[in-house]
Amino acid sequence: MNILILNGPNLNLLGTREKTIYGAESFDHYFEELKLLFPSFALDYFQSNIEGEIINCLHEARFKYDGIVMNAAAYTHTSVAIRDAIAAINLPVIEVHISNVHKREAFRHVSLISASCIGVIAGFGLDSYRLGIEALIKIKTDE
Ligand code: DQA
Repeated sequence: MNILILNGPNLNLLGTREKTIYGAESFDHYFEELKLLFPSFALDYFQSNIEGEIINCLHEARFKYDGIVMNAAAYTHTSVAIRDAIAAINLPVIEVHISNVHKREAFRHVSLISASCIGVIAGFGLDSYRLGIEALIKIKTDE
C-alpha cells in the first residue's frame, strides 16, 4: 500500500515554528519515526507552501497512491481549490491537524476541505499523522 503524507504551508518550519503549539520536532525527523512504525507500507512525504503545487501533487497522487494523510495547514480554512482537488481525485484523504483547531481562533474552526475528506483527526500533536495512517490502512483493508 502506497500512502502519501501531504503538508501545506509553514509546516516545513515544524520544530522551530510556534513550538508551544506545534512542538519541537521537525517533520523530517518525525517522518523517519513514522516509516519505522509502518515498515510494510510505502510512505512518501511532500510539503509545499504554494497552493498550486499542492493541487498538482493531489492530481498526480491519483496514479501513485492508495490514499493521502493531509495537513493542509492554513489552506484548510481558505482553499476552495484544494477542496475541489480532493473531491476530484477519487482517493481517500484523511484530514489531520497537529493542534486542536477547535480550541483556537474562530477562523480555524472552519475547514473548507473536511467535506471532501473521509474524516478529521486534530489535536494529538504529530501523533495525529500516525492516527491518520492507521485510519487509512483500516479503510483500505476493509474494502
Ligand atoms: C494546523 C492548524 C492550522 O490552523 C494552521 O494554519 C497550521 C497548522 C495544525 O496542524 O494544527 O498551519 O493545520
